Amino acid sequence: MFFGGDYNPEQWPEEVWDADVELMCEAGVTAVTVGVFAWSHLEPSEGEYDFAWLDRVLDRLHDGGIKVVLATPTASPPPWFTLAHPEALPVNADGVRLTHGSRDTYCVSAPAYRLAARRIASELGRRYADHPALAMWHVHNEYGTDCRCDLTAAAFREWLRARHSSLDALNEAWTTAFWSQRYSDWAQIMPPRATQYLPNPAQVLDFRRFLSDEMLSAFVEQRDLLRGLNPSTPITTNFVQGGWVSVDHARWAGEVDVVAVDHYPDLSDISAEEQTAFAGDLARSWGRGSWLLMETAPNLIFTRGRMHTKEPGRLARQSLSYVARGSDGAMYFQWRQPRGGAEVFHSALVPHAGPDSPIFREVVDLGTRLGALSSQLEPTEIPAEVAVTWDAPSWWALQGAGLPSAGIDYLAAVQQTHRALFRAGIPTDFVFPGTMIDLSAYRIVVVPHLYLVSDEVAAALRDFVASGGHLVVGPLSGVADPFARVGPGGYPAAFRHILGVRVTEWHPQDPGVPVHLDDGSTAFGWAERVELIGAQALARYTEGTLAGEPAVTRNGTAWYVSAGLDDAGWERMLRTIAAEANVPPVLEGLPPEVEAVRRGQLLFVFNHSESEASVKLPSAATDAVTGRFLGTEITIRSAEALVARLEKPVGTPTATSASSE
Ligand code: GAL
Ligand code: ZN
Repeated sequence: MFFGGDYNPEQWPEEVWDADVELMCEAGVTAVTVGVFAWSHLEPSEGEYDFAWLDRVLDRLHDGGIKVVLATPTASPPPWFTLAHPEALPVNADGVRLTHGSRDTYCVSAPAYRLAARRIASELGRRYADHPALAMWHVHNEYGTDCRCDLTAAAFREWLRARHSSLDALNEAWTTAFWSQRYSDWAQIMPPRATQYLPNPAQVLDFRRFLSDEMLSAFVEQRDLLRGLNPSTPITTNFVQGGWVSVDHARWAGEVDVVAVDHYPDLSDISAEEQTAFAGDLARSWGRGSWLLMETAPNLIFTRGRMHTKEPGRLARQSLSYVARGSDGAMYFQWRQPRGGAEVFHSALVPHAGPDSPIFREVVDLGTRLGALSSQLEPTEIPAEVAVTWDAPSWWALQGAGLPSAGIDYLAAVQQTHRALFRAGIPTDFVFPGTMIDLSAYRIVVVPHLYLVSDEVAAALRDFVASGGHLVVGPLSGVADPFARVGPGGYPAAFRHILGVRVTEWHPQDPGVPVHLDDGSTAFGWAERVELIGAQALARYTEGTLAGEPAVTRNGTAWYVSAGLDDAGWERMLRTIAAEANVPPVLEGLPPEVEAVRRGQLLFVFNHSESEASVKLPSAATDAVTGRFLGTEITIRSAEALVARLEKPVGTPTATSASSE
């Protein structure tokens, strides 16, 4: 069980280090991440190393019984590096070469950067591979940079040559016949840079794929070198989520020993818990059952232009929610709040106020609880029978210009379907079409905004339906092939025959203006003209030019939602399908804003609501933290989290009836 966070002793005089270790012990901290941004301290000038301070830090931590997740510092090269190698500074799409002064200011394709990164990683590796405190290597930090320089252009062309069998094939894939973009030599191809009008979407998409692969190759270089020095220490890098991130984590997940994820909910009401559940389910699915929360904020979180201070109990609820969803612990950014620097007000386990503070008291309490749970956490056993598709390239494609509505939002669409399942209390996995895809464990697959679909993915989903699976497709799915070329004959070309519908027109709507359906549900932002070619209409549009036309359809077990249904509509729809597919929630009849998550024998119950709640358990249980016998019904206070250890063995059905609501 990992409990701790980023620890930056290089920001503090050495006297503070002893206090740090003492406080860590008091809080039950088991591990800290060291060295993430320490390059300029470890290599003060080119080829001159100073490890003495880090030796002392690691030894002190080891004496305190605290494990170290040791980072390679390559996310932030020192100023001497960029001055010596100006060609390794990144260039943005406008041609502006950036200057050091922040972090992440390097070009991942620059040979000088790659060499310097390998060098510092191997120096660190040689020195600490056998250190007794070392628990895990943490390569780099949050890969996700972007550069459009000439070195990048050269690397991009190499990548394109490997991906496209010939220049003709590339011209075809990129539809370069449009606007006279045909390339007659590989050397003419550029990364997307500032240009007169809309860029070529297939070029932009391939560039994002390239960036992801390019960063992955930088990771793999360091990983292999560290692995060579000590094959038994697991190696990870922390994945970050966010719309700007040019990394396809589903592809990366196969290359790390441990999927580690940074997650910062940025809303303050129950939506933060929904974001947490989303991130936890996604991370668990990347990690095929196991993963580690490497960073989250202990207290203040940014939301809508200001910071929000977590209410009492929220730290524990959110942290345990990640653990319930398979995380092997909870780590935070960061241990001690800094005295200066760009993130001076970012929260920490030890705040500016010091340990005599509400947050530190909550940390100590959480440490005790996690300590009690640690021996009881089995390998994750979260029996999801529903999966939602997640596809970074579709996200990237739908971030492009020239789409039919500015309101198209891939992440929001995926989160919305997940949220509906969360509210229905139904365990949910994600599946990744790019690394396809074993659907045999699932009874329901939900497909929101899966814009790019290959023939193989379409075939896998067709087979899923043929074997009785329920496929629920939302708008903007199956529209284009992996090069963003639209399939002819009516949308969604990839799924038309599975769904028994043919969409002949899109009707994007003004934001905030409701579109009503005749089953009482409401949609926003999106509507379509749907022809039935085998499906039956379950709901129809009631107004405007689409009045009387199908809006929601089914064709056997293939369901299509053509409208931008609101949250209530999705929840109702998915509950209905779950009932038909015999997929039960974790617990029947939970009060609103009470959440239950099963991990093996443990049942995590979270009361996010403002009132006390009582919950019936599927069997008698004990409190996994205190050992107290709970019986078969628990009362749980507002804002509380309770972990119950069920007496019934895993695998015993948790619900007797499949009907929801
Ligand atoms: C993370 C990053 C940390 C810190 C944190 C602030 O994305 O890895 O170094 O910047 O964000 O929220
Ligand atoms: Zn570059």
